[in-house]
Amino acid sequence: SAGLNDLAVRAGLKYFGTALRESAINSDSAYAAILSDKSEFGQLVPENGQKWDATEATQGQFTYSSGDITANTAKKNGQGLRCHTMVWYSQLPNWVSSGTWTKDSLTKVIQTHMNNVMGHYKGQCYAWDVVNEAVADDGNWRDNVFLKTFGTDYLPLSFNLAKAADPDTKLYYNDYNLEYNGAKTDRAVELVKIVQAAGAPIDGVGFQGHLIVGSTPGRSSIATVLKRFTALGLEVAFTELDIRHSSLPASSSALVTQGNDYANVVGGCLDVAGCIGVTIWSFTDKYSWIPETFSGQGDALIYDKNLGKKPAWTSISSVL
Ligand code: XIL
Repeated sequence: SAGLNDLAVRAGLKYFGTALRESAINSDSAYAAILSDKSEFGQLVPENGQKWDATEATQGQFTYSSGDITANTAKKNGQGLRCHTMVWYSQLPNWVSSGTWTKDSLTKVIQTHMNNVMGHYKGQCYAWDVVNEAVADDGNWRDNVFLKTFGTDYLPLSFNLAKAADPDTKLYYNDYNLEYNGAKTDRAVELVKIVQAAGAPIDGVGFQGHLIVGSTPGRSSIATVLKRFTALGLEVAFTELDIRHSSLPASSSALVTQGNDYANVVGGCLDVAGCIGVTIWSFTDKYSWIPETFSGQGDALIYDKNLGKKPAWTSISSVL
């Protein structure tokens, strides 16, 4: 039977993709086999390997061994690549977050980081998440070293520097909880307008899509919120989709609800011309950040811990 990427492409998307967990790919051949099947996953994104702490833990010393795992796997399998991420408050080394910066010195730090890391992957990334999670859940700007140093000027600055580092990749703003169309979404719309008003380039907004079974917005609500950004001339994508059970074990009816929730998200994307693809944040419950981060929650993905397809897999395949 056709894989999810084949179905997604037939339905008009550019790809259906997954994050790659760097610690699993070389030790788990069954995991690697599913991940490497291009008919199932047409695009990969490194779960951690391209983040600042993985690539420039020490100022000026660049490491690509982890990020290259995903880039090389995608290349070998003929899969596309999303790249993640540049300017983010988390997984940011202390030398950046606790440094004493002027606007000039922090600009040089961001520029050097982008020129090296984006330069290393130049020509390989369909898109880069240039700025990640700049808005807090209550709709305020997220406090971080970049905001402290520049105010919101770090937003256009980051997009301008990214354009110079890799002129041909799509430049994205990426965040979670934008799906609910509340104060956080309003601020993300403002963010796009700030970047555009400054004359800086921005091509897309990534909806991370870290959602909860039974609380996921319906298909038309998803389409409505995506359209707030396509109306600004941008493309949109789901970039880190997972839909977690808030308590475990999941009942069989909860597994059906999870499938419906996945179908609503993918269906909402299909309903918006500028929604170009869906990436899930790992594909199996065997390897997921959810139980590591949200205690007691989990089983958020579309393959179970034994790498068997869950009802959610079938629900997505039916909507595509
Ligand atoms: C997560 C990874 O999945 C974990 O392995 C890591 O320990 C923490 O980061 N938003 C993002 C992703 O943009 O980079 C995060 O990934 C999940 C939330």
